[in-house]
Amino acid sequence: MSHNVITALEHFHNHKQRHLNDLKNLVRIPSISFPGFDPAPVKQCADAVAALLTKSGLTDVHLLDAGSGYPAVFGKWTGAPGKPTILLYAHYDVQPAGRKELWSSPPFDPSERDGRLFGRGVSDDKAGVLMHAAAIASYLESVGSLPVNVKVLIEGEEEVGSTNLNLLLENNQQLLSADVVLIADSDNFDSGVPSLTVSLRGIVTVNVEVRSLASSVHSGTWGGPLPDPVLALAKMLASLVDDEGKPAIPGLANKVRSRSPQELSDLNILPFKESTFRKQSKLLDGVQIVGGKGSVYEKMWNQPSISVNAIEASSRKQAANIINDVAWARVGIRTVPDMDPEETLELLTEHLLKQAPWGVKVKIEPESPSRWWHTDAKVAAGEVALTALEKGYGKKPVVVGAGGSIPFVQTITDALGNAPALLFGVCDPYTSAHSENESLLISDWEKGCCSLIILFSGLSERNG
Ligand code: BES
Ligand code: MN
Ligand code: MN
Repeated sequence: MSHNVITALEHFHNHKQRHLNDLKNLVRIPSISFPGFDPAPVKQCADAVAALLTKSGLTDVHLLDAGSGYPAVFGKWTGAPGKPTILLYAHYDVQPAGRKELWSSPPFDPSERDGRLFGRGVSDDKAGVLMHAAAIASYLESVGSLPVNVKVLIEGEEEVGSTNLNLLLENNQQLLSADVVLIADSDNFDSGVPSLTVSLRGIVTVNVEVRSLASSVHSGTWGGPLPDPVLALAKMLASLVDDEGKPAIPGLANKVRSRSPQELSDLNILPFKESTFRKQSKLLDGVQIVGGKGSVYEKMWNQPSISVNAIEASSRKQAANIINDVAWARVGIRTVPDMDPEETLELLTEHLLKQAPWGVKVKIEPESPSRWWHTDAKVAAGEVALTALEKGYGKKPVVVGAGGSIPFVQTITDALGNAPALLFGVCDPYTSAHSENESLLISDWEKGCCSLIILFSGLSERNG
């Protein structure tokens, strides 16, 4: 490793407590981008991120506003003429906290226990924000320069599907131009195991509303001749999977691309132990793994899956002897190459409408989809990233897919004319992202920061 990398790494180790404190301060701001939550802290968080980027030594730090929604934060350092420009991405918005009573410590009061930091957004994705800021500051405060040019984009609407991202990219094409994109918002295969993510699933989501009555009625008086909208919805939802729990929408898997020999061998290297998988995925004893015989990784990363995120009809508290007038559900399909979002939406909509019994009124409202993304770890930048991860963690990295979605990735690689994208992150299988008691393994976050410091140097040696 070059002298400058060693200097930057040393500086990181001497100042990592400060960066961790900066992370804790970000976690204290409840930047929930979901509709219906207070917008003030989200905007406050954007300002806090801007201050952090400025403190890290970036210039031209400002908010990118698409006119509606929440702003993204931009900053850059372009003092390395002739060297490649790396676009660094993370998001500062977070999911709602979920059920408050299930948190062992308050979600927005970060708390350290057993080497982990607990709090909403701590790993998804404020750890990513702090990886970028810490890696940049480590160079600029010690060496005084970076080995590459960097542009930083920290988004504020990722968790709600990045609705304004296209507009934002269109309005700022020149500002965001880059040779390589680097996204810090993904999972490690296991704690301490560095992982390069080469695919993301897309997502198609709909809100389904089933109505059969002008208002709810007494279930004793009227029960019998009236179609219950909750049962109608239940039949529709149940038809989305077969008895094995496999997606059962006709035609859904027609376009699923088969994996290359390289992808198959990357997949086959990964260890699988059912007891570990059950523990990590929170699967209860005696409950089956569904979806047929295939590998769980293949089911999570390379096959479409369907989930019902929420159902509403009356409530536990108000559960009375009624036939409800209306039932509602939110249904999501994760998509994989080469599924088309429009076509997937059509297949889902048609299927639900066809399965609706008794002439009930069905209203289906789609949300904006996110596209899948897929790359080859063998691209030049991928090899550099694997080397940097190996040095940063002191352990051989694995190549993995991801079941989650990040709308930014395919959108930006398109906008940059198929620029290579590198995706990694510091969530581990015990992170509980989106759930209660989300946490970050602090030692992995530190190793992630070191990897990034090393990666900047690796990328300065080549273009693309
Ligand atoms: N960071 C996740 C996505 C992710 C998870 C990538 C695991 C790689 C590994 C991201 O914050 C997320 O939750 N995305 C949403 C996107 C949706 C709102 C379009 C998702 O996957 O549900
Ligand atoms: Mn994320
Ligand atoms: Mn997320």
